[in-house]
Amino acid sequence: MSHIRGRFKKAADKLVNEYTASIPFDWRLYPYDIAGSIAHVKMLAKQGIISDKEAKTIINGLTAIKEEIERGKFQFKPELEDIHMNIEARLLEKVGEVGGKLHTARSRNDQVALDMRLFARDAISNTLAQLKELQRALISLAEANKDVIIPGYTHLQPAQPVLLAHHLLAYFEMLQRDVDRFSDCLKRTDVMPLGSGALAGVTYDIDREFVAKELDFSQLSQNSMDAVSDRDFVLEYEAAAGLCMMHLSRLAEEVILWSSAEFNFIELDEAYATGSSIMPQKKNPDVAELARGKTGRVYGNLMALLTTMKALPLSYNKDMQEDKEGLFDTVDTLLSTVEVFTGMVETLKVKSENARRAVERGYILATDLADYLVKKGEAFRTAHALVARLVSYAMEKNKSLLKLSLAEYKKFSPLFEQDVYSITAESSIAARDVVGGTAPRQVARALATAKKTIGDSKRGK
Ligand code: ARG
Repeated sequence: MSHIRGRFKKAADKLVNEYTASIPFDWRLYPYDIAGSIAHVKMLAKQGIISDKEAKTIINGLTAIKEEIERGKFQFKPELEDIHMNIEARLLEKVGEVGGKLHTARSRNDQVALDMRLFARDAISNTLAQLKELQRALISLAEANKDVIIPGYTHLQPAQPVLLAHHLLAYFEMLQRDVDRFSDCLKRTDVMPLGSGALAGVTYDIDREFVAKELDFSQLSQNSMDAVSDRDFVLEYEAAAGLCMMHLSRLAEEVILWSSAEFNFIELDEAYATGSSIMPQKKNPDVAELARGKTGRVYGNLMALLTTMKALPLSYNKDMQEDKEGLFDTVDTLLSTVEVFTGMVETLKVKSENARRAVERGYILATDLADYLVKKGEAFRTAHALVARLVSYAMEKNKSLLKLSLAEYKKFSPLFEQDVYSITAESSIAARDVVGGTAPRQVARALATAKKTIGDSKRGK
C-alpha cells in the first residue's frame, strides 16, 4: 500500500489496519464507485488530461473488475482499507501503471461523497417505489372492505364508529407524507461533489458539468469544503426513514391488536404468521412485532450519525466513515419492512362480523345521542352530561342503548322521541359528512384521490 502509506517507513499495525478498514461493509458501494470512476475517466480524456487510449484501458479494466465482483471472484483485502483502494489496486494489477492515472484530479474524499450520494439516490428511488406498493395494498384492502364499520378509538377506548377504509386511509396519508419527505431529500442528495478534491478543489482543467451529466446529477456542489464534509443527505434519509418506521410501527401495533383474540378484527394469512414452539394453538404476528422492534435501530442509526457529525471541524474527518453501516442498515431495514408489510396487508382477512359486534358493544353512539339532543335545541354541554348519565344507567342495567325503552330515554330528557332509534352506526358515520370525515361519500372521494395520487406520483429518479 505504498500509495496511501506515503512517507511512512513502517507498515500499519495489524490491529490498526483492521480498526480503520471499512471494506467489510463499504464493499457494497462498488457499483457506484465504478460508475463514478468511469464518468471521471471519460472527463479526464475529454479534457486531454489523459489520452483516449488510456481512458479506454482504464474503463475496460473497471468494467472487468465489476464483473469479477459480481461473479464473486474478487478478493476484498482489509489491508487495502476501503472499496476505493481495493478497486484501484486491482486496476493496477490488471492494466498496469496506466491504472494509476484514474485518481488524477480526485481524492477519496470527493470520491466517497460521490459514492454515498449515488447509493442514497438509488435507495430513495427504491424506497419511493416500495412505499407506493404498500399504499396500493392499503387502498385495495380498503376497497375490498368498503362497507365495514369498526369502532374508532381514542385512548384505545371505543370512541365513535368509523369505516375501516377511513382508518386504513389514515395510513395512506402518513405514507404519503413519507413519500414527500423522501422526494424532498432527493433534491439535496442529487448534488455532484467530484472536483472538490481533498477539500480545496483541484488544479486540473476539469469539466464538472460533464461528470454530473454522465451520472445524471442535476446540480454541482458549490463549495469544495462543504462537499467533502457534508453528510446531511444521509441524515435526511435516516430521519425520513425514522418517521416512516414510526408510522409502520403504529400500523404494526394495530395489526397485533386486531389479530388478538380480544379484538379479533382480522386474520393474518398463514404465510405471514408464525407458530409457537411450545403452544400449539398460537398464531403469532411476528412480522408486525419485528417491524415494531426494528424501529429502534432505525432511530438509533439517526442518533448515531447526528452524534458522529456533531462538532466535527471542516472538512473531511475519518469519523465520517461511520456514516455507512447505519445508512446501509436503515435502508435494508426500511425496504424489507415495507416489502413484507405489503404482502401482509394484501393477504390479511377482515372479520367484519366481529368488528360489527364490537361496534355494538361499546356505547359508541353516545356522541350521536348528544348531537341528537343538540339538534332538538339542547346545549351541547348539557346534552353531553345528560347522555353520560344515560350511558351509566344503561351500563348498570347491562343494556345497549338501542335496548332502552323510549320511557327510559324520556326519564333523561323529554326531547327524546321515537326517532332516537334511527341512530345507528350507519347513521353515525353518514352524518360525519365533512371533508376528511368518515361518511361513505367522503371516504369514497378520499379513495379516488388516493388512487390518483399513486397513479400520478413519480417513481423517484
Ligand atoms: N473509507 C473512507 C470513508 O468511508 C473513504 C475516504 C477516506 N479518505 C481519507 N482521507 N482517508 O470515509
